[in-house]
Parts: sequence; C-alpha cells; structure tokens
Amino acid sequence: MSGRLAVVTGGTRGIGAAICVGLKNAGYRPIANYFGNVEAAKKFSDETGIPSYRFNVADFGECEAGVKHIVRDHGPIEVLINNAGITRDGTLHKMSYESWEDVIHTNLTSCFNMCRLVIDSMRDRGFGRIVNIGSINGQAGQYGQVNYAAAKSGIHGFTKALAQEGAAKNITVNAIAPGYVDTDMVRAVPHNVLEKIIAKIPAGRLGRAEDIARGVLFLVADDADFITGSTMSINGGQHMY
Ligand code: CAA
Repeated sequence: MSGRLAVVTGGTRGIGAAICVGLKNAGYRPIANYFGNVEAAKKFSDETGIPSYRFNVADFGECEAGVKHIVRDHGPIEVLINNAGITRDGTLHKMSYESWEDVIHTNLTSCFNMCRLVIDSMRDRGFGRIVNIGSINGQAGQYGQVNYAAAKSGIHGFTKALAQEGAAKNITVNAIAPGYVDTDMVRAVPHNVLEKIIAKIPAGRLGRAEDIARGVLFLVADDADFITGSTMSINGGQHMY
C-alpha cells in the first residue's frame, strides 16, 4: 500500500472515476478533479469517500489555484493522471473555431497546465508518476474529429518529450490510448455509427472503464520506474501498430 497522493483530472465520471476507485483500492490517496457536472461529482465523492475539487483544467490560473488547494489540504502530488477530455465532433467543413479551441485547450493544454504545476515538486522529491490519457483516435485519426485527434495526438508527443526530461529524476511519463470505452462520451456517438465501430473491434465489445484503470495502476507503480515514454493501447484489438 503506497499511500501516494494521486490527482485524476476529470475523475468523477467515466474512465476517470474508475481510475480513482482503482487507485483507492490499491492503497493510493486519490483526489478527483471535475468541472462541468457538479451533481455527478457530489454523488461520486459521497459514494466513494474520494475528495473532489472543482476547477477548469483548460485554464492555467484555475489549475494553479486548484493544485495549491489540493497540496494545502493533502500534501504534495506524487501521481498525476491527465484524463479530462471533451468531444465536439463534426467534419472540418462544419466545425466552428470554438469547437477546435475548446477541445485543444481542454484535452491538450490541460496536460501542460497540470504537469507544469506539479513538475517542480516531483523534481525536488525525486519521484513522480504521470499518465496522460490519449486515444485510439489520436493514433489512427477519426472521421469527424480533427480537433480531438489533433489534441490526443499532441498528448502522445507531449508524453514522449516530458518522459525524456523526467527520466533522470525518477519521474515517469506514459500515455494510455483507450479505444472505444462504454462511457457517456462514447454513448453520445450516433447509434448507427457506433454499431459500425463496435463491429470493427476484434474483442467484440466496447471497453470498460476498469480496463483502462488497470493500465494506469500498472504504469504508476513504484517499481515501474523503467517504463517511461510509452503508449499503452487498450482497445480490444481495434488498432495495432
Ligand atoms: N468514414 C467515411 N465516411 C463517413 C464516416 C467514416 N468514418 N462517417 C460518416 N461518413 C459519411 C457518411 O456516410 C455520410 O456520407 P453520405 O452523405 O454520402 O451518406 C457523410 O459522411 C455524413 O455523415 P453524417 O450524416 O454522420 O454527418 P454528420 O455531419 O451528421 O455527422 C459526425 C458527422 C459528427 C462525424 C458523425 O458521423 C459522428 O458523430 N461520428 C462519430 C465520430 C466518432 O467516432 N467520435 C468518437 C467519439 S468517442 C471518443 O472520441 C472517445 C475515444 O477516444 C475513442
């Protein structure tokens, strides 16, 4: 039981919630960040006993205040899971600038914001575990997702660069690229489109949020210190490379 403090962005629903619960069961002290859905966050914290903190990960100033608050309440952040993400799907010729900007800032700039705010303390302490949640659609692209695919692809590059910077300080930085996981985000895909996608998953089913949490637990372990800069695909065999 490590007792390490772990912050999970977007941690009160879907994949993030499963990561928080997985971390708690493994003896970590998870903290969930959330922004949009206050009611869901309250329910999550009440049910799990995992504290949740509201701030917008797309906004550096809000992250700064949020991280300070968490550190003041619980101590230094040793594990960071950048999981928060949104979709604003649409083909490029119909996509607004706002849909582009919202997705880039929430999904990618958030990784800069949060990593920038925890990296000094991780460097000082000579320990850090960072996992960034990318996507199969950042690896392979996806019709109707130039914004999301660009942001998630960016996460994969960000991960490899920061991994090189952190390695000498025992800070590992890895990515997980989930496939289609049974969450609100995927349930929002039009039914007929989703059916065609599921038909292409060799495992024959959507992923479960716990399938992703399992990968996170593997990557954040104290003795996973030689695993850095990698991307773990968890997608039921839908995309391999
Ligand atoms: N490849 C090629 N053509 C496609 C296509 C595809 N994958 N998907 C749709 N098209 C075609 C359609 O066949 C249609 O052609 P016709 O006009 O000739 O019939 C045309 O594109 C327009 O399709 P739609 O009617 O669907 O257009 P729309 O503008 O109403 O919707 C869309 C477009 C928003 C992209 C919609 O198709 C959609 O939501 N697709 C799902 C996108 C997706 O997979 N998002 C993932 C969300 S979950 C997630 O992101 C989590 C994760 O990490 C995996």
